[in-house]
Amino acid sequence: MRQAYRTALVTGASSGIGESFARLLAGRGTDLVIVARRTDLLDRLARDLVERYRVAVEVIAADLTDPVQRGAVERRLRAEPVELLVNNAGYGAFGPFAELPLGDQLTEIELNVTALVRLTHAVLPGMIARGRGGVLNVASMSGFAPSPGSATYGATKAYVASFSESVHAEVAAKGVHVTTLCPGFTRTEDDAPANLLWLRREEVARAGLDAVSLGRALCVPGAQYRAALPALKLVPRPLLRAAVNRMWQQASDSR
Ligand SMILES: NC(=O)c1ccc[n+]([C@@H]2O[C@H](COP(=O)([O-])OP(=O)(O)OC[C@H]3O[C@@H](n4cnc5c(N)ncnc54)[C@H](OP(=O)(O)O)[C@@H]3O)[C@@H](O)[C@H]2O)c1
Repeated sequence: MRQAYRTALVTGASSGIGESFARLLAGRGTDLVIVARRTDLLDRLARDLVERYRVAVEVIAADLTDPVQRGAVERRLRAEPVELLVNNAGYGAFGPFAELPLGDQLTEIELNVTALVRLTHAVLPGMIARGRGGVLNVASMSGFAPSPGSATYGATKAYVASFSESVHAEVAAKGVHVTTLCPGFTRTEDDAPANLLWLRREEVARAGLDAVSLGRALCVPGAQYRAALPALKLVPRPLLRAAVNRMWQQASDSR
């Protein structure tokens, strides 16, 4: 059954795909809580959405890798439930694992995994009790394949996809929709055209919102990426590993 959401919390709404989620939801009349670190961008977005769409927008400035600031967001979700949670905030450090600072990669896990799990846990019991609600978790196509050059990022996105699919199965019959959104390469600046490889952020956000409202387990935006998905699953893993490693090496050599 298609669900419409009167209230939503979007993490990472200050730019990129998260800003598109916020704009599309506001355009559908959804009251918003928007979360990120850059307060100036959040405030500007909030003013624009209120003026344009006459929705209520609450700004929470929070670093979701900081347990204290993240805790405030969790408490907000428990105290005043939202009907849709979009776990979009995410980050990836690129380079060989052994050469990247360990701290950066642990912070990446805090944001991409720990924050997503904690916020999901903050909303789900209430949604189950009410028999409706949605959680849209942003993973990535890179979660489906080995990711040399972004080993930690790829692993966090594989976690998000596996975790979200399992929770989807647990709660689907209780009226709660949990959806994994797996974008491929997505241009995050305004008005950038799509091409064979690159998606536009608005089409990614729209596909994710449609999928969660319909209760789909998985959403892969873009026909080109949907076409690639079976190959990623069918190609023998050693071949896939060698191919992505070669691509990574060539990209590194050409820099
Ligand atoms: N673009 C792509 O090609 C692509 C492909 C597949 C998946 N994705 C996923 O899509 C999601 C959005 O990515 P994007 O490309 O739109 O990136 P983006 O433009 O860099 O946006 C990332 C958002 O996350 C927020 N954020 C980062 N660190 C944070 C922190 N510590 N605490 C709170 N918020 C934080 C940023 O806001 P502040 O800096 O203001 O905190 C920003 O709003 C991510 O999960 C990403 O992994 C992107």
